[in-house]
Amino acid sequence: MRIDKFLSQLKFCSRNEAKDFLKSHVVAVSNKRIMNPKDEINPEIFDVIIDGKIVYYKPEIHLMMYKPKGYLSANKDRLHPCAVNLLKDPYTRFDFSIAGRLDLDAEGLLVLTTSGTLVHEITSPKKHLPKVYEVKLDRPFIFDEKLLDGVIIKDAKDELYTAKALDLSISGDDVYITIDEGKFHQVKRMFLAVGYEVTYLKRVSIGNLKLGELKPGEYIEINKEQLYD
Ligand code: URA
Repeated sequence: MRIDKFLSQLKFCSRNEAKDFLKSHVVAVSNKRIMNPKDEINPEIFDVIIDGKIVYYKPEIHLMMYKPKGYLSANKDRLHPCAVNLLKDPYTRFDFSIAGRLDLDAEGLLVLTTSGTLVHEITSPKKHLPKVYEVKLDRPFIFDEKLLDGVIIKDAKDELYTAKALDLSISGDDVYITIDEGKFHQVKRMFLAVGYEVTYLKRVSIGNLKLGELKPGEYIEINKEQLYD
């Protein structure tokens, strides 16, 4: 790719500013300084060094994050802090999309990725990627088969559809529910349909990717295969 595209993609400067940037900063690849914005580079093979520092680069980056309660599954918002605001250097240089949102009052596993394909793989109901949620309810849960058979709830457009849990289990005060879609407030609405209010909601896994030891606000880089391995 051209160096001006690389610099703008990683937010060092706009493509128009690249000429000036290359004059005022020492940008080098393979020990050769680059001065021409049109020069082609291959950052996957040869490190780009700006003012003596190697620039962290990958064509695609995927992160798993423990979204804390009170954070929006978004990039920018005027009212609330956003999951993307938790990212630090070098990840602030990349444009992440969120693959499967969590409500503001929900917490747990969130995947952030620069790959549109991965967003689709995680969120498309056709891909059947199971998501497991740990749930606390307003009163003790009595196992209800209806959640497995399918309950009729509304989606974000107020259209009715049948939502089915793939799995349902109880462990002490916690209920674990597995679904392979991600409709608006789906888990909350499924429990409401059988007479319970969700008071706590945490996503603990997506496919084979598990929240594990991650603490609220922490994130780590992952590779796509971890979702399916
Ligand atoms: N279901 C919900 O109701 N909320 C979430 O955040 C995720 C699934």
